[in-house]
Amino acid sequence: MSAVIEERRGRVALLRLNNPPVNGLGWPVREGLDAAVGRLSDDPDVDAIVLTGNGRMFCAGADIREFGTATPEHVRRLTPILDDLEGLDKPVVAAIHGVAAGGGMELALGCHYRVCGPKTKLGLPEVTLGILPGAGGTQRMPRVAGVSKALELIVSGRLISEKEAFEAGIVDELVEGDVEAVIDAAVAAAERLAAAGEPPRRSGQRTDRLHEAKDNPGLFDAFRESMAKRARGMNAPYACVRCVEAATRLDLAEGLAFERQEFEQLVNAVEAQSMRHAFFAEREVAKIPDVPKDTATRPIQTAGIVGCGTMGGGIAMVFANAGIPVMVVENDQAALDAGIAKIAKNYAATVSKGRLTQAAMDQRMGLITGTTDFLSLAATDMVVEAVFEDMAVKKELFAKLDGICKPGAILATNTSTLDVDEIATATKRPQDVIGTHFFSPANVMRLMENVRGAKTADDVIATVMGLSKTLGKVGVLVGVCHGFVGNRMLHQYLREAMFLVEEGALPQDIDRVMYDFGMPMGPFAMCDLAGNDVGWRVRQEQIRAQGGKPSNTRYSGTVADKICDLGRFGQKTGKGWFAYADGRTPQPDPEVEAIIVQTSKELGIARRAVSDDEILERCLYPLVNEGAKILDEGIALRASDIDVVWMHGYGFPRFRGGPMFWADTVGLKTIAATLQRFEKDQGPWMAPSPLLLKLAEEGKGFGDA
Ligand code: CAA
Repeated sequence: MSAVIEERRGRVALLRLNNPPVNGLGWPVREGLDAAVGRLSDDPDVDAIVLTGNGRMFCAGADIREFGTATPEHVRRLTPILDDLEGLDKPVVAAIHGVAAGGGMELALGCHYRVCGPKTKLGLPEVTLGILPGAGGTQRMPRVAGVSKALELIVSGRLISEKEAFEAGIVDELVEGDVEAVIDAAVAAAERLAAAGEPPRRSGQRTDRLHEAKDNPGLFDAFRESMAKRARGMNAPYACVRCVEAATRLDLAEGLAFERQEFEQLVNAVEAQSMRHAFFAEREVAKIPDVPKDTATRPIQTAGIVGCGTMGGGIAMVFANAGIPVMVVENDQAALDAGIAKIAKNYAATVSKGRLTQAAMDQRMGLITGTTDFLSLAATDMVVEAVFEDMAVKKELFAKLDGICKPGAILATNTSTLDVDEIATATKRPQDVIGTHFFSPANVMRLMENVRGAKTADDVIATVMGLSKTLGKVGVLVGVCHGFVGNRMLHQYLREAMFLVEEGALPQDIDRVMYDFGMPMGPFAMCDLAGNDVGWRVRQEQIRAQGGKPSNTRYSGTVADKICDLGRFGQKTGKGWFAYADGRTPQPDPEVEAIIVQTSKELGIARRAVSDDEILERCLYPLVNEGAKILDEGIALRASDIDVVWMHGYGFPRFRGGPMFWADTVGLKTIAATLQRFEKDQGPWMAPSPLLLKLAEEGKGFGDA
């Protein structure tokens, strides 16, 4: 079937884009559109044109899979096709439903009038792919929506509702009903406009909304300043601003040429490659090779959470936010009351920031019920356990849940380290047991590591992976091992950061390098945020378990232990690796520096200057190396799944594509050779993994593994 289907509605030609699943503007669509525009411009039986999309949306923009591939020479780019479309003397109306994004939005902006149905998302998300709206979006959007609105939309890449688009003047008419109702309204508008006989209103020729920039010449510099933190390390957001700026001083043709130049600079750069990788990785993650897509799932209409501490409370909020009634169980009334009060406080903080209405808060709180009676869990579809991280405690709880919960209920553990298979042995239904590892704060962080046990049933996996999406999370399926994917790799990162401090760097040096790399904060600010006491207890437990520190390995916790001995647990105590005079901003602290220098002395380490390059390599190469081991052991299904864990669980910069993709851009040969050097200088824990060595020798990357 053709990629653009033509029908007639009286004297109106209706063009339907037809390229499932999202009507991406791949070359067959562009070819079809180009031909139709040429044909219809001269057709005496056609007074007007309506453009719509087949299936569930109008159009999600360029076909991203086509980037970097060859297009047949006779097929034109979208920009000149849109110029021709906009230049037609017959009115062209966009009938938009579902999504109009990227090139799809640009196509709609090239039309003379826009009609839009309910529950539609519109916008220019190209910047999230490391590029800019390269088919006139940077030139037409400011002319249609105004300069400030266009800047905000293009630089954030945010998709907006049809109502917001209407208020901004991007959409001319809102219609209730299904896609056919939208098409009917668009045809009626097209007939009306044709009958009026006025010249079409061309977005590219409008100037009225550009005055804003002339009246406020400092607008662009102020905007650049406001985005500096968010856009750190990236080129695309700045190119977007330059293009919008160009729209205010150049005519359309010149502006389009400028936009083209800027687009060309971005489209094949590493930043865009990384972000395209991130886009597809986030979608690939839902695909489990041995769990078919059509596996029947179990209904999750109610949930229970055991434990109402920071994690349990956060998880309860996640369910309530998704509209799922949730029963929270605690051992005693005081802990329950404190937990529920904390949840209410968290919601109230969101309300006071204007990000949630009081009514929505009341509705969500209404979905959360507290109890101390475990028998109340008898009818729930799923229970998530978030109690103390101790195997004996967890096993006792799972045995209890096994006796209470109805057959078929999913029993999930939020453990961040423990063996899910061992926990499952406490029940007579290991097939129903799975790990759902939320990241703290659970109501904010998007990652869920879903841990598959040896006996976890396929439909339990399918249900929990689907549930992650319902909860607004990104679910990544991982296997059982200590720390799973994220924390196991984190351990490497933190260990090297601690060693570097002993050798000569200061926490602020390391944090600066990692922040500049694009992490939301460095490892020491992160530890201070999470609470240094958590790792301290784990270390003490390990030391106790092995009867003292083993003498044959280097211990990384010497400085951290001293910091904790002083009660410097981090932000919550006002002091940690840094001091927090205002409660939030890390400030280097001479007291910590003195402890560090003294520790180096005690350990017999002569402090030296540590370069920024060494900091980066020491912190990240071992992390990547651990990722390679995880991949080799089958704990992660794909290297790209590891990238998703790190982007959504730890804020690894999306413009670097996640640690494994980033490693490929550095080159595995370089990483393997550097690790071998570290192995000699530091110790055997730095040895490159067999998979890393093999790929490096074969000249391959993790993307080929
Ligand atoms: N090109 C190619 N494939 C795309 C695509 C696109 N623009 N958008 C989505 N897909 C694919 C997805 O990879 C997925 O494929 P699989 O089923 O094989 O995994 C499938 O379509 C469905 O996508 P989602 O799972 O994301 O569906 P959703 O309903 O959750 O979301 C969406 C729909 C909001 C449109 C979302 O897919 C999305 O944000 N797409 C990207 C939009 C975008 O960034 N457009 C700009 C493209 S660049 C551009 O247009 C440049 C220019 O200036 C001309």
